[in-house]
Amino acid sequence: MSFSILGTGKAVPAYVMTNDELSTMVETNDEWIRTRTGIGERHICKSETITELCVEAANKALEDAGVTPAELDLIICSTMRGENVTPSQGCMIQKEIGATCAAFDVNAACSGFIYALDIAAGFFARKKVKKVLIVSMDNLSNIIDWTDRSTCVLFGDGGAAAVLGEGDDLLSIHLTAVGNDAAIRIPHGTNSSPFYEHEEERAVLHMAGNEVYKFATAAMANGIKRAVDEAGLQQSNVDVVIPHQANIRIINTAAKNLDIPRERFFCNVEHYGNTSSASVPIALDEASKSGFLKKGDIIAMCAFGGGLTTGSCILRWSKD
Ligand code: UT7
Repeated sequence: MSFSILGTGKAVPAYVMTNDELSTMVETNDEWIRTRTGIGERHICKSETITELCVEAANKALEDAGVTPAELDLIICSTMRGENVTPSQGCMIQKEIGATCAAFDVNAACSGFIYALDIAAGFFARKKVKKVLIVSMDNLSNIIDWTDRSTCVLFGDGGAAAVLGEGDDLLSIHLTAVGNDAAIRIPHGTNSSPFYEHEEERAVLHMAGNEVYKFATAAMANGIKRAVDEAGLQQSNVDVVIPHQANIRIINTAAKNLDIPRERFFCNVEHYGNTSSASVPIALDEASKSGFLKKGDIIAMCAFGGGLTTGSCILRWSKD
């Protein structure tokens, strides 16, 4: 037994920042950002808190699934940084939606949603749960360097959720990690200890873009190939690919290295930028609600990110 996805939901901040607006803050322009990344705009938190967006996404997914908070047996939140160090973001979601089940966070950066799916699959396999809520949320705008044009143009804020129930729709899932703090790193930034002997660093994202690009293009194609093999399928059996929305060129290169037609890849990076662990579930929610995804479709999902981590999986979509 694995699980079926019963419902999805997303929540993004109201404020939309265009490339032209960004060009007034750093030396960049719409043409560079669009041709190098495919990004046209991103949503940025102003008044919204992390918890508010998580709760909005969670409530939409619960409604879509027809499941009440009281029915939940587990909440997993994938995030690099929740509202507080403790309580976990999972516990904050549990409190706000009025659930009573166990709750915790998982940090696998942009691969967080797929890591959370695999963890949930273990709970289902052990028959410990009947209904699980996964919420993936990252608020990159408060941890990027807004003076660094090579990174600040890439990211946006957002959250998304999925409700899982008992079923057999997870056909394969594969996680990887290669410990590497040179390609992507965000330091904590504060240390209250008067005894600590190291210098404090600003809590902003540092990234070696070209290194991550090479890693990502290989990771996406290899991850999907491996997940397809483990599911006992052929690439031609994949109806829809939901890739991590980091850069349209990464998606296009991965598509060229796979035997899956490019038009089967769902892409919304133009409107959100890279929303880290929310990227795959936001795309899943939009693919489902727009009709791109149909009942019975075989989906390949693939993400990569800080860690460096990757997650790939093959799922059957049995929702109407
Ligand atoms: O979830 C995982 C997160 N990370 C990623 O997915 C990032 C993966 N990497 C990438 O997507 C790409 O490497 C970037 C979009 C970050 C960079 O694209 P690129 O085509 O590899 O550009 P580059 O870093 O080689 O820079 C090319 C030029 C440089 O100028 P010179 O040295 O050729 O004169 C940069 O200084 O573009 C310049 N540049 C910019 N120009 C205008 C860098 N950022 C900008 C900018 N606007 N925002």
